[in-house]
Amino acid sequence: MHPFEGKTAIVTGASSGIGRAVARTLARQGAAVALHARRDAALQAVAAEIQAAGGRALAVAGDAGQSGALDALLDAVLAWHDGGCAYDIVVANAGRGLAGGITTSDASQWQDLYQTNVLGTAHLLRQAGRYLSGRGCGDIVVVSSVVGRNISPFSGFYGSSKFAVSALAEALRREVCAAGVRVSTVLPGIVESGFQQVAGYTRENFGKTVETYGRVLEPQDIANGVAWLLAQPPHVHVSEIMIRPTGQNYP
Ligand SMILES: NC(=O)c1ccc[n+]([C@@H]2O[C@H](COP(=O)([O-])OP(=O)(O)OC[C@H]3O[C@@H](n4cnc5c(N)ncnc54)[C@H](OP(=O)(O)O)[C@@H]3O)[C@@H](O)[C@H]2O)c1
Repeated sequence: MHPFEGKTAIVTGASSGIGRAVARTLARQGAAVALHARRDAALQAVAAEIQAAGGRALAVAGDAGQSGALDALLDAVLAWHDGGCAYDIVVANAGRGLAGGITTSDASQWQDLYQTNVLGTAHLLRQAGRYLSGRGCGDIVVVSSVVGRNISPFSGFYGSSKFAVSALAEALRREVCAAGVRVSTVLPGIVESGFQQVAGYTRENFGKTVETYGRVLEPQDIANGVAWLLAQPPHVHVSEIMIRPTGQNYP
């Protein structure tokens, strides 16, 4: 029996990278997956691939920085399967990076970054936390970053948003654990994905250092960790997991 048979998982940021790998992995292991991101065509392609492999997938396009779009996602999931669908797992993964520190990053992008990484995530956590604690079980997985623990010279402003994300996740964990809901923080190191291009990393501001780390992670490496922690028995909570490339000495 697959570990997530009979469960429904919501994955934000599922059109690319870590979110796409998490959605595919949970679907392969039996979950029905609801996918969210802005790029509808890319999202539909992930859903079609999961369906072609015999899985169940629902694609809902929207902006993870907008509370109304997140509410529409949750409503669509609850109406899925002829209105009979509860959800069990929420993976709050959507996010973006930004190259540079406080003095060097492009400040015109600060608001958008906080809107997506922090305020959108906070709204999703609030809604999912309320819903799952009402049900008395469930999992929320929050994708933070190693730079949400160790601030990095490559990405100081972005890192500040991930400190906030880690704090939101732990705050929610304390609120809902007694109701049987697990909130887990995942802190990835460097993963090759669409992230680097969106953040504006170049060989100069990022690549030369990363080359010294050797082989970096693939999205699937993070998805494997997420599936593992979700598959623990209900009385066991892996509340935090940091996954780095072996050669990444910092951050
Ligand atoms: N890659 C790394 O080295 C690394 C390390 C640590 C943590 N992380 C975190 O891991 C998460 C996933 O990143 P990734 O590496 O998989 O990067 P990615 O390949 O760029 O994927 C980011 C995903 O988030 C979605 N997204 C971004 N902004 C959005 C918005 N405003 N509304 C809806 N969806 C949005 C994107 O979809 P659309 O563009 O289609 O909207 C995409 O599906 C992020 O939270 C990131 O901060 C990444």
